[in-house]
Amino acid sequence: PSLADAAGTGVWRYAGALPLDGGVTIQEGGTPLYRVPDLAEDVGVETLRIKHEGMNPTGSFKDRGMTVGVAVARELGVERLACASTGNTSAALAAYGSRAGMETLVLLPAGKVAAGKVAQASLHGARILEVDGNFDACLDLVQALADRGEAYLLNSLNPFRLEGQKTIGLEIVERFRADHGTVPDRIVLPVGNAGNTAALYKAVRELVWAGDLAVDDVPKLTGVQAEGAAPMVEAIEAGADAVRRWDEVETRATAIRIGNPVNAPKALPGIRETGGTAVAVSDTEITDAQRDLAESGIGVEPASAASLAGLRKLRADGVVGSDEEVVCLTTGHLLKDPDAAAAAGTDPEPVPVDLDGVLDHLLT
Ligand code: F0G
Repeated sequence: PSLADAAGTGVWRYAGALPLDGGVTIQEGGTPLYRVPDLAEDVGVETLRIKHEGMNPTGSFKDRGMTVGVAVARELGVERLACASTGNTSAALAAYGSRAGMETLVLLPAGKVAAGKVAQASLHGARILEVDGNFDACLDLVQALADRGEAYLLNSLNPFRLEGQKTIGLEIVERFRADHGTVPDRIVLPVGNAGNTAALYKAVRELVWAGDLAVDDVPKLTGVQAEGAAPMVEAIEAGADAVRRWDEVETRATAIRIGNPVNAPKALPGIRETGGTAVAVSDTEITDAQRDLAESGIGVEPASAASLAGLRKLRADGVVGSDEEVVCLTTGHLLKDPDAAAAAGTDPEPVPVDLDGVLDHLLT
């Protein structure tokens, strides 16, 4: 689109649509939009493509937000960056913050963050505060710290994060158009704090303003939550103007184990104005979808698979038509949550250390 600028790469190819010309970069963005014809046929849609954000430097879409957000923080001259996180934000903040030479502080819900993400935050040198509460409580705490001037907040409440994440939408539109001559009818994505939903809505609106996308062609933004953490789905189904905070949340998809989606005021209009919807899926449906993607060679963490699980459900319910061209967003890499992957996959089989023994094992 016209918002693209060939001089930069990845996220920074779209510098014209961003508040800075360049950022603290580890070559984020420019992620694959995989073709999955077998999966498209199985789900029953005309076209399905998978935008795999797990292929970013730290393995999630958060890098797109941090390359912009940390650069803004550096310009502001702040010393300490902070976030609450279900894991991926903390991994990205730790990596980008340390690359920028800044101190990073992350607040994590104790026992509820996947192993790969804690390992990343740790090795990139963040101070990790384990909070005896859920993500929403961590976010309340870190906002209070930021209000007192103790740290610069880099959760998706920070608008510069969402500026970077807009580039997911810009890349989808550009690549899909080049390959199919159209834009997708629908973009399906997992929803936690609803930052990405808000960012994608801003991206398509800016494309419309730039004269680069007809209003009628705007993809339907379709959010998916886990049944045990679905306040956005509740609000969409009720036609409500605001989201009711869920105090108790649970799901195997720990990345979206969130009861108070703070970007709801921006995301609810995004879903409604584009003609999209929101749907909740069970943990079993999420794991099944994770296996389906893995069968196509695409390794994602549980929260990411929610998008495909949601698409399947909406297709089965007839909300999504068989003629639709759809992009599912997968937000994080398989290796983020090795325990979930191992539990969903095949088990190792012990064999003796000799050929006859191995053959014996394979043939019986
Ligand atoms: N998928 C993954 C893998 C995530 O890590 C997150 C959010 C989401 C989806 C939801 O995105 O908040 O924009 O609706 N993870 C945050 C974190 C909360 O702390 O890493 P959203």
